[in-house]
This record gives sequence, structure tokens and C-alpha cells, in this order.
Amino acid sequence: MTNTQRLEGKTALIAGSARGIGRGFAERFVREGARVAITDIDLDAAQKTASKIGDAAIALHIDVTDQSSIDTCVAGAVGAFGGIDILINNAALFDAAPIADITRVSFDRLYAVNVAGTMFTMQAVARHMIARGKGGKIINMASQAGRRGESLVAVYCSTKAAVISLTQSAGLNLIGHGINVNAIAPGVVDGEHWTHVDAMFAKLENKKPGQKKAEVAASVPYGRFATPDDLTGMAVFLASDDANYIVSQCYNVDGGQWMS
Ligand SMILES: NC(=O)c1ccc[n+]([C@@H]2O[C@H](COP(=O)([O-])OP(=O)(O)OC[C@H]3O[C@@H](n4cnc5c(N)ncnc54)[C@H](O)[C@@H]3O)[C@@H](O)[C@H]2O)c1
Repeated sequence: MTNTQRLEGKTALIAGSARGIGRGFAERFVREGARVAITDIDLDAAQKTASKIGDAAIALHIDVTDQSSIDTCVAGAVGAFGGIDILINNAALFDAAPIADITRVSFDRLYAVNVAGTMFTMQAVARHMIARGKGGKIINMASQAGRRGESLVAVYCSTKAAVISLTQSAGLNLIGHGINVNAIAPGVVDGEHWTHVDAMFAKLENKKPGQKKAEVAASVPYGRFATPDDLTGMAVFLASDDANYIVSQCYNVDGGQWMS
């Protein structure tokens, strides 16, 4: 018989989990026995998600670009659960433009959320984990976009490369405290995010609505976009004791798009 409660008794803070992939992680973690803090800049949506999940979920506001918001959120999760065992850094923004049209505003926003947000949420939770002395698991959301450049996606790709690099260094620095830091690199995952991406590419590449998504889906060796559920197994694994000896790695969960 398989153990269906691989995270029993664990607590998780998932940054950016009101919707999309983060919500998928939260739903699965609760099914695996964890209590989860659904944290997001969109508190209304986080509350709706938490109330659908039930008593094992709480909703907290976080803006990962704001240190006092990060600190308040981490303190709120520690207060509610008594401690945090698992962090998933999932909040991110996307933008696309040719190099000649990239604005400093877009660049700064993507770096503030995707890179500084990941770094300082990781730091706040790592400080808590170190002080608590029980170790922990930190999972950063990278992307296949962090593995190589894309003509119209320079800034987002570079933020995800930075997430992979931060994961490598943080993993080395924190494993002495029993904290495993690893990353997941998804390929293309269906949801609101891709509706937005498809609309951007329709303008940038003069395509019909839905055309970019169809082309991308056809290019995935597995034959389709991922759903959030396709990613949750890797997150549960990296959050569990089965991953105790795994340090600083980034796992592709992308239907065969990238090999490394
Ligand atoms: N969807 C894909 O195809 C895909 C592919 C590869 C990697 N990823 C990565 O997976 C993660 C989740 O992607 P998704 O498609 O579910 O995205 P999404 O846009 O659906 O969800 C991201 C969540 O982050 C929240 N957020 C944005 N800014 C925030 C901030 N400053 N503070 C706190 N929360 C904030 C949003 O409100 C949203 O709920 C991201 O890191 C993304 O880069 C996604």
C-alpha cells in the first residue's frame, strides 16, 4: 500500500499561490497532509482559494517586493502554524518585448518580483528555519526560460536564470542547517498566465488569438501543455524527506522540452 500522506504534520508557505501553479501546489500539499499558507499580493483571491481548500489552509497577504510585507507574512504563518517546514517561492511576473523596446520599468518590476522577491522571501524563511533548528525545504520556481534565451523574452529568461543560480548558492549555504534548497523548471503550463502570454505574442508576432499557444503545444515532446497537477509530484518529492540528500538542483518538469 502506498503512503498517501507524504507531508503529514508539515507546514508550508507558498508565495504567489492564489491561482495557477501555486494553487495546484497548495491543493496537493493539503491532500498530502500539510497545512498551507496561501500567500499572494491578491489577498481576495488567496482567501477564496484557502476557503475552497478548507481548514488546513490559511490566507495571508504578501508582496514579495516589500521587505516589511515579507516579514509580516512569515511571522503570520509562524504564528498560525508554530513554524514553517516548507517554502515555495512561486510568485513571478512575465513580460515580452524585442530588445529595442524593453523598458526600465518592466525590467525593474520583473527583477523586483522574480529575483529580489525570491531572494528575500527565501532569506526570511531561512532565518526562521535556522533559528528553529529543525531544517526545512525551500523550492524556488525557475523555468525552462532560465535554461536559454528567447528572442522576445530576454528579461524574464534572465530572471529565471538568476533563480537557478540563487538556488545553487543558497543550497550550498543552507544545507549545513539541514535546509534543502532546490528548484523546479516547468516548460509551459496552462492557466491564466498563458492566456496573457498568448495575447502578448499575438501582438508581437502578428498572430491570431490562440495561435501561439497551439504552436507551442505542438512543440512539446509530450504533446501538450502541462497542467499544474503535472508539477505537483515533483514539489511533494522535493518537500519530503525523500529529498534530504538533494542539494542545489533544478529539475525540469517540461514534457521533454529541455535536457540537462
Ligand atoms: N505558466 C507557465 O507556463 C510557467 C512556465 C515556467 C515557469 N513558470 C513559473 O511558475 C510560477 C507560477 O506560474 P503561474 O503560471 O501559475 O503564474 P500566475 O501568474 O498564474 O500566478 C502567479 C501568482 O503570483 C502572484 N504575484 C505576482 N506578483 C506578486 C508579488 N509581488 N507578491 C506576491 N505575489 C505576487 C500573482 O498574484 C499570482 O497569483 C512562476 O514563478 C512562473 O514564472 C510558469
